Amino acid sequence: MKALAISGSARTRGNTEHMLNTCIEVFENAGMETELIRLSKNSVHPCTACGSCYKTKDNTCIQKDDAFHMIYDKMREADIIIVGSPVYFGSATPNLMALLDRAGYVGRANGSVFARKVGGPVVVARRAGQNFTLAQLLFWFMIMDMIVPGSSYWNMGFGRGPGEVQEDTEGLDTVRHFAENLVWLAEKLNS
Ligand SMILES: Cc1cc2nc3c(=O)[nH]c(=O)nc-3n(C[C@H](O)[C@H](O)[C@H](O)COP(=O)(O)O)c2cc1C
Repeated sequence: MKALAISGSARTRGNTEHMLNTCIEVFENAGMETELIRLSKNSVHPCTACGSCYKTKDNTCIQKDDAFHMIYDKMREADIIIVGSPVYFGSATPNLMALLDRAGYVGRANGSVFARKVGGPVVVARRAGQNFTLAQLLFWFMIMDMIVPGSSYWNMGFGRGPGEVQEDTEGLDTVRHFAENLVWLAEKLNS
């Protein structure tokens, strides 16, 4: 099975990545093929609302000058998709939302390509905004017809400087358990 983690942080090796890597470790221990994609290294332009994807219906977006298709194809191949975002002024990053808007529109134009895949979001912030950002991202997973398991708490961490989230042991335990639930669920669905 394949597990894909997408970091929406503008910062490479920051707290979002620490949280996603905590999940990736669980996926690897379960024998899954894993990959982390950083939007800090792969820019994705926003959706232009041109509607071309609904005309061509060939799993492509008319914009071809960015990393979108590389990431979208990996999302289609994955059994598990998790996304991570730092909170930026109470919301998910525009980098991540640009990807999710386009992947969501192209995916729905082609028969809900993410339907019944499992996954979910994790978020991190210095002080506040995790609840809203987690909910914001959950809306995407829900309308994609995906299956999101719970955890021992909501998937959120606290931290400001790179790596600070490692001191939030409850936050990391929560996302570790979330990843364990994803493995459990994916294995049940694939058996
Ligand atoms: C533009 C910007 C806006 C931010 N807004 C918030 C916020 O609304 N609430 C908060 O608690 N932290 C906020 N932060 C802090 C980040 O969420 C925090 O440093 C986080 O750990 C960054 O994750 P990263 O290391 O993966 O980039 C903001 C940071 C930036 C750069």
